[in-house]
Amino acid sequence: MSLKFNLPTPLSRAGAMVLHLVPRWSARLFWASSGWRRIYTQGSSVRLKRLGYPRGVYSRLACRAYSAAPGSPEVMLTPERYPVQRLPFSTVSEEDLAAFECIIPGRVITDPEQLQACNVDWLKTVRGCSKVLLRPQTSEEVSQILRHCYKRNLAVNPQGGNTGMVGGSVPVFDEVILSTALMNQVISFHDVSGCPGFTEVLQTFRTCKGMLGEILSAFEFMDTECMQLVGQHLQLTNPVRESPFYVLVETSGSSAGHDSEKLTNVLEQVLNSGLVTDGTMATDQRKVQMLWALRERITEALSRDGYVFKYDLSLPVERLYDLVIDLRTRLGPRAKHVVGYGHLGDGNLHLNVTAEAFSQELLGALEPYVYAWTAEQRGSVSAEHGLGFKKKNVLGYSKPPVAMKLMQQLKAMLDPKGILNPYKTLPDQA
Ligand code: MLT
Ligand code: ZN
Repeated sequence: MSLKFNLPTPLSRAGAMVLHLVPRWSARLFWASSGWRRIYTQGSSVRLKRLGYPRGVYSRLACRAYSAAPGSPEVMLTPERYPVQRLPFSTVSEEDLAAFECIIPGRVITDPEQLQACNVDWLKTVRGCSKVLLRPQTSEEVSQILRHCYKRNLAVNPQGGNTGMVGGSVPVFDEVILSTALMNQVISFHDVSGCPGFTEVLQTFRTCKGMLGEILSAFEFMDTECMQLVGQHLQLTNPVRESPFYVLVETSGSSAGHDSEKLTNVLEQVLNSGLVTDGTMATDQRKVQMLWALRERITEALSRDGYVFKYDLSLPVERLYDLVIDLRTRLGPRAKHVVGYGHLGDGNLHLNVTAEAFSQELLGALEPYVYAWTAEQRGSVSAEHGLGFKKKNVLGYSKPPVAMKLMQQLKAMLDPKGILNPYKTLPDQA
């Protein structure tokens, strides 16, 4: 089923608030109704996010031996951009490689070409120079590898899909990369979240939550610049008329007929109240995926726009978009784009700033400003991406010293030599 709505009606009271933030506000609504994504609910909480995607002495010369593949742009080595010193871990020796080979025969990778992809984050912003990639298949193999690394004082960088946003999934120096790619037997997982929404977009969210209840499985928002970027860089087509904001709503109930009836009621409600002025609805797989691509491929579109400064913040929902507007003024032409999108139900804003290239000056205009702004709102400097390498020293904006101390104590207890993903997550000084 595919419905397109176009109903300009007066803004609601909540609408007026967003109008204050963004002149001529209106929301376009994408409705995606299907069972192709699982929903996870607990009590009255609804999972609001869409499920994840389809995360010796150091020598720079040694690192250069693992430079980018011919033809691909060279990503600057992490220690060249960031002030970080290699800790006194051992370096991988021939004996270590032989020991790994005994544990996981045929799955010890030292080929520089293959290592290249695992040394660089997919955003192409940080690069390590590990010389070995290990691909265990079982937890017993992981355990044996870690036993060896512990004995030898070798630092280890665990890596899953390498889709991280904060430099947490790639080595900073020459850590052993321990890939979980072959450990792909997922046993179980669940995710629960829920919190109220964001004025008109928010009011639409409240309406959806109230009327769709447990069948509501996602409520995402993106601004018009995001929509323009997915169009410009990925040639994706906007199925509705242009608008300052767009929301994507997904239901995943067990009965298509029941879902459809509920959705129709919600649609009537939001259209009649003027919260939404145009929309499209999809139930067939192809169109559902097309709608999701508009939201899920924003990151990719941003990467093609230039260097991306990424922030993943939790903020009180009523102030969520203020920071985007504020930064557009603050940065002016220094930024190519300042965009906001994210998981509304979580109060999670993905604030992204693109520029032609990395610039210390732009970074200086963004940080610590963004973090201080967030702290003032009692928000969090990392909503869902973690702290990784890039955000570890800003944890103090969200957590009191006593909490950081406790985290360090726990880490020291579980990882006494600090070999597990060093240089990440915890501040240099807590
Ligand atoms: C998303 O919500 O699209 C991901 O967290 C990636 C991103 O923040 O860019
Ligand atoms: Zn996200």
